[in-house]
Amino acid sequence: MSCQTVQPDSGLQIRKAILSDAGNMDLLNRKILPENYPMSDWLFVLGKYPSYSFVAYDEDKLVGYVLGLVVSNEGLIASLAVDKDYRRRHIAECLMGQSLSELKKTFHNVKLNVRVGNTPAQNLYTKFGFTKSKCEKSYYQDGEDGYEMILAF
Ligand SMILES: CC(C)(COP(=O)(O)OP(=O)(O)OC[C@H]1O[C@@H](n2cnc3c(N)ncnc32)[C@H](O)[C@@H]1OP(=O)(O)O)[C@@H](O)C(=O)NCCC(=O)NCCS
Repeated sequence: MSCQTVQPDSGLQIRKAILSDAGNMDLLNRKILPENYPMSDWLFVLGKYPSYSFVAYDEDKLVGYVLGLVVSNEGLIASLAVDKDYRRRHIAECLMGQSLSELKKTFHNVKLNVRVGNTPAQNLYTKFGFTKSKCEKSYYQDGEDGYEMILAF
């Protein structure tokens, strides 16, 4: 799984996230997902785990990100989002692929959580080999159940 499906002729740039991306990541996160974080969390994660988060830009517009970090000596994909106008172009696949290859260098497992109703994201994770390890009742604030998914390298 590579980024070749995204990059040729697309004008998109996919690269490691840096501290100065935090503001744009927060804005896109708030536009797309109900799970939001204080700016201090974005800055903390990007500062402490600089290798596992990636961003996709169309010129100076952030159109996607993946936020990767470490919990209990395992990788965690904490957040992933792609702007609605840029979906189905394999941007998420590229972002995830980059983050997972970095995590794989150090960790044996990567975990994530996903809403039971979020089929697009579950399909994406399954494509990478993630499997459902448990279903947590009312995991999300609005009461929706969540799957924990795990990928063992
Ligand atoms: C989930 C999300 C990140 C996917 O982004 P994307 O860039 O459109 O995804 P990609 O183009 O890389 O798709 C990769 C694979 O994911 C799956 N997928 C993506 N969108 C899908 C959809 N709408 N329906 C079904 N499967 C889908 C497919 O398996 C796809 O592979 P394919 O194109 O070969 O069929 C995007 O829809 C999004 O931001 N959703 C809202 C936020 C969210 O749900 N984040 C994850 C929280 S756990």
